[in-house]
Amino acid sequence: MSEKKDQPSSLGNVSGHFSGRFSEPVTELVKRFTASVTFDKRMAAVDIQGSLAHARMLAKQGIIATKDLAEIERGMAAISAEIAAGTFDWRVDLEDVHMNIESRLIAAIGDAGKRLHTGRSRNDQVATDIRLWLRGEIDGLIGLLRAMQLALVGLAEKHTDTIMPGFTHLQVAQPVTFGHHIMAYVEMLARDEARMVDCRKRVNRLPLGAAALAGTSYPIDREFVAKELGFDGVCENSLDAVSDRDFAIEFVSAAALVMTHLSRFSEELIIWMSQSVGFINLPDRFCYSSSIMPQKKNPDVPELIRGKTGRVNGHLVALLTLMKGQPLAYNKDNQEDKEPLFDTVDTIRDSLTIMADLAAAIEVRPERMRAAVLRGFATATDLADYLVKKGLAFRDAHEAVARAVRDAEKSGKDLAELPLETLCGYSGLVGEDVYAVLAPEGSAASRNHIGGTAPRQVRAAVEQARKRLN
Ligand code: ARG
Repeated sequence: MSEKKDQPSSLGNVSGHFSGRFSEPVTELVKRFTASVTFDKRMAAVDIQGSLAHARMLAKQGIIATKDLAEIERGMAAISAEIAAGTFDWRVDLEDVHMNIESRLIAAIGDAGKRLHTGRSRNDQVATDIRLWLRGEIDGLIGLLRAMQLALVGLAEKHTDTIMPGFTHLQVAQPVTFGHHIMAYVEMLARDEARMVDCRKRVNRLPLGAAALAGTSYPIDREFVAKELGFDGVCENSLDAVSDRDFAIEFVSAAALVMTHLSRFSEELIIWMSQSVGFINLPDRFCYSSSIMPQKKNPDVPELIRGKTGRVNGHLVALLTLMKGQPLAYNKDNQEDKEPLFDTVDTIRDSLTIMADLAAAIEVRPERMRAAVLRGFATATDLADYLVKKGLAFRDAHEAVARAVRDAEKSGKDLAELPLETLCGYSGLVGEDVYAVLAPEGSAASRNHIGGTAPRQVRAAVEQARKRLN
């Protein structure tokens, strides 16, 4: 970006101030401190889109002439081309994206350009820009959330029958299928998707027309502008329209939950890939080695996603804090909404894109998973349930199995490896059929109800998710 000092601009003597009101310019530091163009130029395309809709409305209402509108459209097309080509001269002394573009328009087309800002303020302009920009990003993110779900569904489908230990307290608890475990994340991401869809409804309202704070005396048509820009309706109160950023907070909150889910998944991948667990391997393209230990293959990508979750959580707190002390209506504090919002979008977009690719490429090691189930007495509950079904009270069954586990642990054997007469020693109710429930496959298959880990249920869940996602 080239920064030209104190050049006369088409907005008058702009060096941090508008024209004749002030008798001294702001210092260079204050100029830089208050400017936002270095980051808000990212909204240039929607800023132009919003300006064109506003201009069309002004012309339709007879507030500006039709030939002014034609000039504005011509000028904006040229500016769009300059921005796309990277030749647009962004100037810090013009403060923000709005004044940079307006100034350039006036330089290009003269008086018609000076009429664009009629009945409008940067306060409703910037609120409109953020909403337009965020709406587009939300649509992209919804697509990514769905792609990630599809990747997980594909993985789950391959492993509806793969037995692994289910954990509580990170201790082996009961056998589950790997497909069931993966489908848990599909549920989480489906809720994340729903939150984005819901948040979009509140983002998609038009602030323009609120002007600085109180509305405008020109005979504007807000509904027309809303329609032009694809908004579902207008913000109903001008003071609220220019001042609240709750829609952005809501979005970042939904994004923080997306990151929370990706972070939990990352944590599991890291544990699963560790040599002492060895449930999975990740393809080399997601891993890095060590600068000193030549044997290392580290899961850097999941670790970074886990780490970046902190950044998005931080943005949520930043935005909540930004809002909490502001009296109505607009305050410059709100300029601070953009960087957290932009970075949140960038972070979850990259994280989701990478994670969808990674999820589809996980190399699963079913033999390691099954061996871990057998080491952890994962079917102890199944034995207790077996005894209950034969007539024992649950607490007595629990106690009998606890004794069996204690003895089996001493002899280094799984319950399924104990001979029938040994098992009978804990309860006379044990029969030959006990081995069916002690096998992890039998245990998993017996949890055959909606939400259960039985392969049949996992296949049904996969099918349902596919139907929803296609
Ligand atoms: N750059 C400003 C922002 O991001 C635009 C609105 C400025 N409005 C004002 N009254 N200073 O909020």
